[in-house]
Amino acid sequence: MKLVGIVGSIAEDSYNRKLMTFIANRFNNLADIEVVSIKDVPMFSEDNDQTNGMAVQYLKHRIENADGVIMATPEHNHTTTAALKSTIEWLSYKIHPLEDKPVLIVGASYFTQGSSRAQLDLREILEAPGVNALVMPGNEFLLGNVRDAFDEDGNLKDGGTVNRLANLLEKFSKWVNVLKALKGPEPADAYKNEDLTASGKTDTTIEGVKPGDPDWVEKAAKITNAASGKDYVKLDAGVLTVDQINWFLKSIPAELTYVDDNNQFLYYNHKAPASKMFASRTPQQPGSPMSVVHPDVRNVHDHVKQVVHTLRTGKTDLFQLAEPVDKKNVKWVVNNYQAIHDDENVYRGINEIVFDFWPVVKKYLEMTGQKLVDDPNSKVDANANASAKEETSTKPVAEPVAADTEASASSTEEETSTTPAPVSQAPATQAPAMDASASASEDAPEEPEVDTDASASK
Ligand SMILES: Cc1cc2nc3c(=O)[nH]c(=O)nc-3n(C[C@H](O)[C@H](O)[C@H](O)COP(=O)(O)O)c2cc1C
Repeated sequence: MKLVGIVGSIAEDSYNRKLMTFIANRFNNLADIEVVSIKDVPMFSEDNDQTNGMAVQYLKHRIENADGVIMATPEHNHTTTAALKSTIEWLSYKIHPLEDKPVLIVGASYFTQGSSRAQLDLREILEAPGVNALVMPGNEFLLGNVRDAFDEDGNLKDGGTVNRLANLLEKFSKWVNVLKALKGPEPADAYKNEDLTASGKTDTTIEGVKPGDPDWVEKAAKITNAASGKDYVKLDAGVLTVDQINWFLKSIPAELTYVDDNNQFLYYNHKAPASKMFASRTPQQPGSPMSVVHPDVRNVHDHVKQVVHTLRTGKTDLFQLAEPVDKKNVKWVVNNYQAIHDDENVYRGINEIVFDFWPVVKKYLEMTGQKLVDDPNSKVDANANASAKEETSTKPVAEPVAADTEASASSTEEETSTTPAPVSQAPATQAPAMDASASASEDAPEEPEVDTDASASK
């Protein structure tokens, strides 16, 4: 179970943080509890909407990805803190990540009441219609006289208090599971909420230029005063000029596309005219919403939404599609949709990587002395995507060739003599119906392969 522990104090040396850290460490057998700070959340103001700012988005993603939330509130003048109240304002203004989220309130304070009034106050706030959290009823954990409660290692000194806390956490985790069961699985059509028109905004969205403007790149660069040409850019593990970055990206033997978390197409490694690309792109497309890059022919938007949703929600990190096999052992174009995450593991968009897999397989076979033969037991229909006129019927499987085993003898000899998995069973296509419809050509020969890009250029 995944829980987020939100500390309601922004003090450096906070007893409530101490309490939350103790809970996270002591009860890690019950749940994986991530302790988060609200220190960087700005004061709520409708005049300065920070919903899409890093601090609010960070909390939003943390809460959305968790099964439940624990909040530790100090008591300030008989209420919860201004900082926590303000944070909840952001989380109930334009976004509502706490809606239907199980929440457990705990708290610590200097005096004997142990934050009881603050907890009642926080409960009322969390149950307001705009917030709509599910605060665990009938339970409180009040830690009074907190200045004497912890030992030097940050552990609660009183065994009875620890036991009460253990009972409470166990109860909360059961309650979270009950609510989860009641809620049932995510509705099958949840993906339909993906906004391919990119009408929202993320904290990297460039404002002042319309998505879809044919001069988007030039205008966006001007607005952001973007580095270019010989300007140096400091990267995680190196320093390069913008020219070098471009040369480098274009030299990668794959077509790369960056779509952000707002479903806006931002970049591709322009290395060839659209007609020569596997997934056609034009220099006018960067800046466009995905709905424009992928015109909605033959239900393409539905498929794209499914893939984006699958990656955004972390059901999978990589979604793969293969193009139909036109000619056996000549070309095997694979579209990889790889989720992009930032350093905080927050979803940041999709890296679409398209490349011809066949030269890699071919080289591999040459170097390891193997050949492809049909696997009579394979359940994979390699031609599921192929049109009727295609004569290919093989399901390639690499098999070792005995005569060559000497040539490849090395420390990796054992590996090369085993039978690798077929290319057509490349990983990570557990998720949605997109794949199914992509390969539905048997029943519906007209259905396009779900390389939506290919059709986008037509
Ligand atoms: C402005 C202010 C008001 C406070 N009001 C209360 C209060 O009403 N009841 C209480 O028990 N403690 C009160 N305290 C003391 C807090 O319990 C104490 O500062 C506690 O350490 C806050 O939690 P923290 O260490 O996690 O920030 C107040 C402290 C401040 C600074």
